[in-house]
Amino acid sequence: ESVFQGRHLLSTRDYTKDELMWLIGFAEHLKDLKKRNIPHHYLEGKNIALLFEKTSTRTRAAFTTACIDLGAHPEYLGKGDIQLGKKETVKDTAKVLGSMFDGIEFRGFKQEHVEQLAEYSGVPVWNGLTDREHPTQMLADFMTIKEHFGKLEGLTLAYCGQGRNNVQNSLMITSAILGVNYVNATPAELEPDPAIVELAQKFAAESGATIRVTNDPVDAVRGADAVYTNVWAAMGEESQFAERVRLMSPYQVNAELVSHIENPDWIFLHCLPAFHNAETEYAAKIKEEHGIEAMECTDDVIYSEHSVCFEEAENRMHTIKAIMAATLGNLYIPRV
Ligand code: CP
Repeated sequence: ESVFQGRHLLSTRDYTKDELMWLIGFAEHLKDLKKRNIPHHYLEGKNIALLFEKTSTRTRAAFTTACIDLGAHPEYLGKGDIQLGKKETVKDTAKVLGSMFDGIEFRGFKQEHVEQLAEYSGVPVWNGLTDREHPTQMLADFMTIKEHFGKLEGLTLAYCGQGRNNVQNSLMITSAILGVNYVNATPAELEPDPAIVELAQKFAAESGATIRVTNDPVDAVRGADAVYTNVWAAMGEESQFAERVRLMSPYQVNAELVSHIENPDWIFLHCLPAFHNAETEYAAKIKEEHGIEAMECTDDVIYSEHSVCFEEAENRMHTIKAIMAATLGNLYIPRV
């Protein structure tokens, strides 16, 4: 039986470096099969529940297409369809869904809820983003970095973004596991949760990675191979916009900031969606209220030759296939 069979993906902290590298390698294989139109029905006949309490483009599309390519049936259950934690306990919902579905994806507000789904459903549960972590995003991010550089260990990843969000938490932990040097450039007011830094330091002691937090974005990007940013205010944090704009403006990834990067072959990542111009309805409203054209990055960076964020988005599908097939597909993977 596979070492992955029946496991959940709630946080990358539950996987070893070798296991994460195996999943990335498997995703590369699945991507190759997809490009060559070779069927890969590892989940033939399985039913997969896709629970979304929040909106999503990439995660929903990636899970849906991944299920179909793997021969499984995806069933989308949005916030108007289920009463999770409101009219019904998460435990009861988990027991019911687990009796009908073979696997469950969950995107929602609380990490506790994805953990309860995992505890009570009896089937593999994959975290599609909570308040604390975004582990499926990590598989795609590090696959994309490996595709570009051919390796991960010893590279340096600079995350210019607020330190207290799910993507930062997951990037810091995953970098530390994989031996990728990591620096978070963030204002003093938004530095990461000390418990996350402590956990990352523990993994880094094993992998040899360095983990740093700085308030100086130039110091962060100078030695970076990969620069990553993310929205300044997440879904549900809209009331904090004015304060975030004030605090985060020096950390915007723009032409001036990236001019300090020493590696000419550096890459830019963003989990998307990004606020890089005022073309969307949402961005136009922010421009009107706060007088800014862009937030975390600018057009000249996200559309530059250094940007790999659209490959990164595509890789969500390949890596989500890998984790679903590995944990549910009865693959023969005796050890990694
Ligand atoms: N990166 C990401 O999770 O995108 P969505 O919110 O569109 O799923």
